[in-house]
This record gives sequence, C-alpha cells and structure tokens, in this order.
Amino acid sequence: MQPTQIHDVVATEFGQVNDYIISQLSSDIPLIEQIGYYIISNGGKRLRPLLVLLAAKASAELDQKKLDQAIQMATIIEFIHTSTLLHDDVVDESDMRRGKKTANEEWGNAPSVLVGDFLYSRAFQIMVDVGSMQCMSILAKTTNIIAEGEVQQLINCGDPDTTEESYLKVIQYKTAKLFEGAALCGAVVANASLPHQKALQDYGMYVGTAFQLIDDVMDYTSTAEEMGKSVGDDLAEGKPTLPLIYTMKHGTEGAVKRVRTAIETGGLEQLDTIIDDVQRCGAIQYTEQKAQQQADLAIAAIEPLPDSDYKAALIALAHASVKRRN
Ligand code: IPE
Ligand code: IPE
Ligand code: MG
Ligand code: MG
Repeated sequence: MQPTQIHDVVATEFGQVNDYIISQLSSDIPLIEQIGYYIISNGGKRLRPLLVLLAAKASAELDQKKLDQAIQMATIIEFIHTSTLLHDDVVDESDMRRGKKTANEEWGNAPSVLVGDFLYSRAFQIMVDVGSMQCMSILAKTTNIIAEGEVQQLINCGDPDTTEESYLKVIQYKTAKLFEGAALCGAVVANASLPHQKALQDYGMYVGTAFQLIDDVMDYTSTAEEMGKSVGDDLAEGKPTLPLIYTMKHGTEGAVKRVRTAIETGGLEQLDTIIDDVQRCGAIQYTEQKAQQQADLAIAAIEPLPDSDYKAALIALAHASVKRRN
C-alpha cells in the first residue's frame, strides 16, 4: 500500500473525526476558541487519530456505538497531542509550527499554556462521555508518563554526557507513549482480544519511537518549509538527540568539541558547521537505521492480527513514519 492510500481506508471516519474535533473546541471564552481553532485548523498530520481508527478497525467490525467511541477516542488523542504541542512550543521557545507562527509567538506564553490546559481537560471530559474505565486508566497513565518524559528531557538538556539509553527512554515517554495509548484505546473500544490489544499496544510504542527518531533526524537534514517548524530548534536549547550523541562518539575531534560545547551552551552560532559534522560522520544513517528497526518491530508485533486493509494500512504507516519528510 502507498503512503497516500493509508487515509483512504478510513476516509469517512477520518472526516467525522475532523468534524468532531472542531465541534469540541467550543467555549464561552472567545480567546480559547480563537487559539484552539488556530492551531487545529493549521493542519497537522492527524497521525494519532488515524492510528486510533486503524487499530479499532483492524481489530473488529465496528457497530455504530463502537464507531462513535472510536471517533471520540481519536479526538481525545488529538486534543492531548495538541495540548502537548502548545506547551512544548513554550518550553522550547519555538516560533513556527505547522508552517505558521506558534501560538506563543502570536499570543504569548500564558495564553498558550492555558489553552493547552483547556484542550487537555476537554479531552478528559470527552473521555468521561465515552465511559470506558479501561481507556481512562490507559490515558491517565499515558499523560502522566508524557510529563515525566518532558521533565527528564529538560534535565538532559545541556548535558553532553546523556546516554543513548536515557535519550531512548525520553522519546518513548514523551512521544511513543501517546502512539501506544492511541493504538491500545482503538483496540479497547473495538473489544479486541487481549493478545490483539497487546499487539497493537506494542505496535504503537515501536512506531512512535521510530517517528520521534526521524523527527530528531529532520532537525539536521530538513528545511523549515518541509517540516513546518524552524530548523535548529533542538540545538538551540542544547537538546542531546541521537544524531548528536552519535556524532560525539564517532565524529572528528573538532566535531566532538563543537557538539559538546553547543549542547552545554545552547545557541545556534555553529548550526551550519554542526549540521555538516552530523551528516559527515554517519549519524543520520545510524539514527535512520534505528528508526527502521523500530518500524520492523512494529510490523512484526501486529502479525497475529487477521489480514485486512486496515492491517495493511498499519504496515504502510510504520514504513511511512521512517520515510516521512514532514
Ligand atoms: C510533533 O508531532 C511532535 C512530535 C512528537 C515530534 P507531529 O509531527 O505528529 O505533529 P503534527 O500534529 O503533524 O503537527
Ligand atoms: C515533541 O518533542 C514531544 C511532545 C510534544 C510531547 P519535540 O520538541 O521534539 O517536538 P517538535 O520538534 O517541537 O515538534
Ligand atoms: Mg519542540
Ligand atoms: Mg523535534
């Protein structure tokens, strides 16, 4: 299946998710609607809601009630994701997201954080409406772990001795956990068997890890136009991602010094030279290889699921998360 065909298998439901997302942005406070609508309507790939739908439909044929729950669950996950982005851009002092100014750049930090809280708590309101205790339990844990990942990342920032192991844990927590939660909740609303729930849960963890590895590659290989985000955000805050960790082990003496200093002090003075350092020492190939391994594990994890268009789309999605350009 081609990457462009992934959405096609759930096109109707995907449209319903988008409508439901917009309908759930309503508030008496106009600034909330304004900022919420701004970030949501600036696009975004909607990968996590897609994952909820595919996981649910790969698990079972859905009656109307289960379908409605899957659509609500997809919205919940996208709201949680969007709220982490609003917070993340404040923490990372980013000025561009989804090809537009970030909300913090446009309105300031305080409104961004507060509207992030609004989306986050709206997600929990919808969750209560869905009424699945198991999904509530999964997402309560998931959101808690995302926060832990973000705090651990904050601790690692500025530390050039951060290990690959610590980095991996950070990306599993801050990013992959939500993919895991999305896939698992999709399986749960579809009433999947326990082994199939576990298969999809593992799939989500692996794909989410691959996805963040490639996100970290793109900071050193892509353009703002392609990413819809500014280049060098990671380096600016001294974030020790895998491309840099690898360069500090395998780069030239000069490269090692430059990267260490850049991580310790942050800042973009050496960005061009460091991009060169990273690209020359094989750090990009290494990180991409790691991502491919994770995608392969994801595909292996869902082997037990019965063959269907939805399973094929999940396999294509795993490949696409490595090959992606944005
Ligand atoms: C951005 O996620 C945050 C990361 C985990 C890298 P996406 O790349 O899925 O962001 P949108 O929703 O498509 O903008
Ligand atoms: C994203 O991390 C993870 C969360 C939002 C929880 P990044 O900081 O790497 O994501 P981008 O690059 O800003 O999208
Ligand atoms: Mg960021
Ligand atoms: Mg990033």
